[in-house]
Amino acid sequence: MIIDGREVISFCSNDYLGLANHPEVIAAFKQGAEEYGVGSGAAHLVNGHTRAHHELEEELAEFTGRQRALLFSTGYMANLGVVSTLLKRGDTVFEDRLNHASLLDAGLLSGARLQRYQHCDTTELADKLVNSKAQQKLILTDGVFSMDGDLAPVAKLVRIAKQHDSGLMVDDAHGLGVLGNTGAGTLEHCALSASEVPVLMATLGKACGTAGAFVAGSEDLIETLIQNARSYIYTTASPPAIAVATRKSLQLLQSESWRRQKLSTLICSFRQGAEQRKLPVMDSQTAIQPLMIGDTATAAQLSDTLFEHGILVTAIRPPTVPAGTARLRITLSTSHDESHVERLLDTLDNLMLKI
Ligand SMILES: Cc1ncc(COP(=O)(O)O)c(C=O)c1O
Repeated sequence: MIIDGREVISFCSNDYLGLANHPEVIAAFKQGAEEYGVGSGAAHLVNGHTRAHHELEEELAEFTGRQRALLFSTGYMANLGVVSTLLKRGDTVFEDRLNHASLLDAGLLSGARLQRYQHCDTTELADKLVNSKAQQKLILTDGVFSMDGDLAPVAKLVRIAKQHDSGLMVDDAHGLGVLGNTGAGTLEHCALSASEVPVLMATLGKACGTAGAFVAGSEDLIETLIQNARSYIYTTASPPAIAVATRKSLQLLQSESWRRQKLSTLICSFRQGAEQRKLPVMDSQTAIQPLMIGDTATAAQLSDTLFEHGILVTAIRPPTVPAGTARLRITLSTSHDESHVERLLDTLDNLMLKI
């Protein structure tokens, strides 16, 4: 990136596969704007829904192995829309404490009772479900936790949801494109079917390199969302050119599987190098490789000093993460190469010795 005229290597973007700057994605975006204009002009249910949106929805459904998919303008809106459609007062939503803010807000705004369990603690979750008298129950989890990079115990969640007659929804914002043989995400990685996880949501602004989000599931789920999800109904459809560009990135993330392989190699190199240098890496196998710092001021100071050395990693501080767990949220991308990773490791090593 060039910031104020200075060239820095960014290690904090969610463009995990380097598709945001792919020439074919850029060309598709331009062609989409030529064909449809820049804005969609209206909400989906008025006349903002174009063939490009529709084709993308069909391709996303096929890619994720589900009957249908529905586009939302952002992931935040998708989560609000789904949860407030599926739940009402008298119901209970069960959420991992480290879920993304949009899932927590979705739970709060739905009017259902929100019960949070300790991070990945399926025993605590099961206890809460046993004691719940709610009419309807829904378990909500990130697939890959956005600030920690670890995976949710989704297979266990599937069993618990079944035992306690609860719904299950996975937000795979950081898994789609990156995990699984074909890039279909955390559920493919864990070999879980659409019937085991009936509600899947993922964003398009990360590994797909564009913007927006979608929910995929059964015909009934999608029809229910179209009729009821206010954050789908009462907002302007995202620009059709975004849908055209996303169709291209979806195609590339499947055909250019070397992007996932290269990313895995970079993740291994980073982790090996960090362990050799005794850097405080967290337990993550994904593209999100945070360094736990703890103190907020120290994390901010490290981020500033890295910047002076030509490396951009923003410090993630409370309230985004719990008090005392400020961190450098390092993310790796296919756009990096081994020399970038080496430079990051050496710079961190030097700076960490000084704190
Ligand atoms: C897990 C997760 N869910 C949802 C979102 C929201 O998606 P969007 O940026 O498209 O609103 C994000 C991050 O942006 C995220 O990390």
